[in-house]
Amino acid sequence: MAIERTFSIIKPDATRRNLTGKINAKFEEAGLKIVAQRRIQMSEAQAKKFYEVHAARPFYGDLVKFMTSGPVVVQVLEGEGAVLKNRDIMGATNPANAAPGTIRKEFAESIEANSVHGSDSPENAAIEIAYFFAGTDIVG
Ligand code: CMP
Repeated sequence: MAIERTFSIIKPDATRRNLTGKINAKFEEAGLKIVAQRRIQMSEAQAKKFYEVHAARPFYGDLVKFMTSGPVVVQVLEGEGAVLKNRDIMGATNPANAAPGTIRKEFAESIEANSVHGSDSPENAAIEIAYFFAGTDIVG
């Protein structure tokens, strides 16, 4: 499998509980390299646009409110098959269904406050990375 990049967000429930380091350790232990990282306060407009694909879903409003409720850490992760590998490390969206040892099993509070976001395809990874990072921000 090829070296890929994926986009990751450590969400407000996790930054609030000071879990950034523990979550980053999971990525690094699994062989993903953090090649860009920034802690930001997302604006409502940024969150709305980022989650635009979910605009028609009933949870969209709450999701935007949650993602702007505190700082997040936006990241680019790099490694062999990074998109799928990151989804394995994160575990299922709903922590109740997440496998043991995954970030969401260990840390997530609920399906909304589920600690991390990760791109679902290489195409979306490229779009999401470009939304938050310039090429020069990423150092492989
Ligand atoms: P994420 O990978 O960031 O993409 C969309 C987010 O919506 C998802 O993680 C969840 O945190 C959040 N969400 C809230 N409620 C639901 C739901 N019922 N089904 C799917 N995602 C949900």
